[in-house]
Amino acid sequence: MKTQQKYMTLKNGIKMPMVGFGTYLIKDKDAQSLVHQAIRSGYRHVDTAEGYSNENGVGSGIKTAIEEMGISREEIFVTTKLFPGNETWGQPFKTYESTIESLHTSLARLQLDYVDLYLIHAPFAKTQRLEQWKAFVELQQQGKVRSIGVSNFNQSHIDEIKEAGLPLPHVNQIELHPWSQKPDLVAYLQNNNIAITAYSSLVPLSSWRNVPGQSSAKTEQMKTDGDRPDSPFKVMAKKYGVTEAQVLLRWGIQKGYAVLPKSASAERIRQNIDLFGFEIDEEDMAAIAKLDKGDGVAWSSGDPTKEG
Ligand SMILES: NC(=O)c1ccc[n+]([C@@H]2O[C@H](COP(=O)([O-])OP(=O)(O)OC[C@H]3O[C@@H](n4cnc5c(N)ncnc54)[C@H](OP(=O)(O)O)[C@@H]3O)[C@@H](O)[C@H]2O)c1
Repeated sequence: MKTQQKYMTLKNGIKMPMVGFGTYLIKDKDAQSLVHQAIRSGYRHVDTAEGYSNENGVGSGIKTAIEEMGISREEIFVTTKLFPGNETWGQPFKTYESTIESLHTSLARLQLDYVDLYLIHAPFAKTQRLEQWKAFVELQQQGKVRSIGVSNFNQSHIDEIKEAGLPLPHVNQIELHPWSQKPDLVAYLQNNNIAITAYSSLVPLSSWRNVPGQSSAKTEQMKTDGDRPDSPFKVMAKKYGVTEAQVLLRWGIQKGYAVLPKSASAERIRQNIDLFGFEIDEEDMAAIAKLDKGDGVAWSSGDPTKEG
């Protein structure tokens, strides 16, 4: 199949590539070569975060690719995230000022003048959420970030922004896959013209974070179905002549979500962006719609979308 990229347009007119390279659990020392590999394989969107401790390596990978491939900075859509603080983990909430500082520290690590998208990683900072958001609005006005958004926010967190009379996020990045479809939140985001990025699309695979120590506490309970020989994704993969990973990622694309597959393998990196040569038919999309199991597996210490 031929790899090509598709874009979605955010409400400020900025185009975001629908397939991004996820970098959670990629170590700083490995990030340069893997990000370089991803860009060589056709990715034009890279997702990192202050909390992943790999912004240095990610930035070096982007720089290497730009220099080696002769592409411009503008062709690559870079997302990073503010770690908002979490008092239950002993980390003070970021304030307006420390939010601005955090972005500058991320830019220095990434060796960039601006990022394309800055996200509040989770709604943890109950008493500072709006201050953090006001700092985001300021950073966008300064041109340090092209678009602003949130991650793991539910409707009430976004309503809080709305009620304060502040601009709404361009994007909400949330866990979405056939086992966690969040129909109410998705409808709310679509009604408010907030673009959706799906993370952890590959949860139903038996290979999802199967390295010891990487799986989430909730993963094991959900996983048994994916391993069955008659797993619907195995059957569909055979029908379309693709892999199960491609079925899961293509499902996200057909739902209108950007997806962020992470892999440390060159072959899977190439495979995970090769999504535009087949289409899941209506019958299979309807069958997948029935597989929803609820909340998902992320943030095993508690679903941040359930926090106040
Ligand atoms: N905002 C948030 O709170 C949040 C939370 C989680 C994730 N994210 C973002 O979303 C990205 C993706 O989510 P994720 O890292 O949780 O999981 P993911 O991309 O859904 O899955 C990654 C796992 O699947 C394996 N895998 C990848 N491609 C495969 C393929 N083609 N066939 C079989 N197995 C494959 C990987 O192993 P190998 O590496 O060995 O290939 C890894 O164990 C993250 O990297 C991060 O950028 C954001």
